[in-house]
Amino acid sequence: MAAFGSVFMPKMAVTNFENNQWSDAAIVSSDSIQMHPGAHVLHYSSTCFEGLKAFRHEDGSVHIFRMDQNIKRLAQSSRLLALPEIDEEQVAQMIKDVVAQFADDVPEPPGSMYIRPTHFGTEAAVGKAAAPSLTSMLYVLLSPVGDYFAGGSRALRLLLDETGMRCAPHMGMIKSGGNYASALQPTMQAKADVEADQVLFCPNGDVTETGAANFLLVDGNEIITKALDTSFLHGVTRSSILSLAADLGMTVTERDFTVTELLEFAAKPGVEAMLSGTAAVLTSVGTLIHNGQEHKVGSGETGPIAQKLRQALNDIQWGKAPDTHNWLTRI
Ligand code: COI
Repeated sequence: MAAFGSVFMPKMAVTNFENNQWSDAAIVSSDSIQMHPGAHVLHYSSTCFEGLKAFRHEDGSVHIFRMDQNIKRLAQSSRLLALPEIDEEQVAQMIKDVVAQFADDVPEPPGSMYIRPTHFGTEAAVGKAAAPSLTSMLYVLLSPVGDYFAGGSRALRLLLDETGMRCAPHMGMIKSGGNYASALQPTMQAKADVEADQVLFCPNGDVTETGAANFLLVDGNEIITKALDTSFLHGVTRSSILSLAADLGMTVTERDFTVTELLEFAAKPGVEAMLSGTAAVLTSVGTLIHNGQEHKVGSGETGPIAQKLRQALNDIQWGKAPDTHNWLTRI
């Protein structure tokens, strides 16, 4: 199978913001876009994006998961980056139209169609380091995908980083390319040094998230994750998993916790840690690496609660369980 996100559908939906309005959306070739070399995004990183998925059900129908929440977050990211305000209804229609056009290409489970709405400043204005782009482009690109983490259900290895940060603390909840770019070098270094899959950023000991996903813990009947603040991405999968955990009768605790607490926690038998995200889905963490020492989390393997929660999520996405939260939009 091709690497996650490396194959694209040949067309995408696009709209441009010019003269204070969005153009009618069009479906165009996805193999290139035209942009001025002075475009705001290329110099001042005025860009944000979303990641959501469409799933094929057994009867052949295609359903998009939590489209409204992803569009809301795109609107918030756009606002916080001073990009033109998006038209949420137009973006919803663009997503539905382009997924409908490629409905036959949505993979069977366990695959899905990854949907990547992307919004960026296009104004040719290298002098505007302290002013927003007055024009922008928003497109919706599609990519048929399988697992994000190579190795499928293998429990991950995370390096705990207490000195670096994933991004500027007030920017964490913006889904912006710059935040991902700033996590790249530490992640590559961690792979080279200790074969870590991801870095878990814990500035001053405060456990936040990895470069690509949110971080959750399970202790018996309790699921614990950092309380929402501006320092990390407000994951739609994170919120779905917390709802499903509550449905299963678990206690949901959103609170801050430190590296010291995390390492004490990891040493307890039966505990679990996991990463959540559209791409990551819900993937167990087996090992934490801290100051050159390896700490197994519980058994060090994929845990039964992670499996149960991932199954509950997949069952809704794949139409095998009732959509009691109204998370699916049928195409
Ligand atoms: C997603 O989960 O949708 C993301 O954007 C993460 C990315 C590393 C693929």
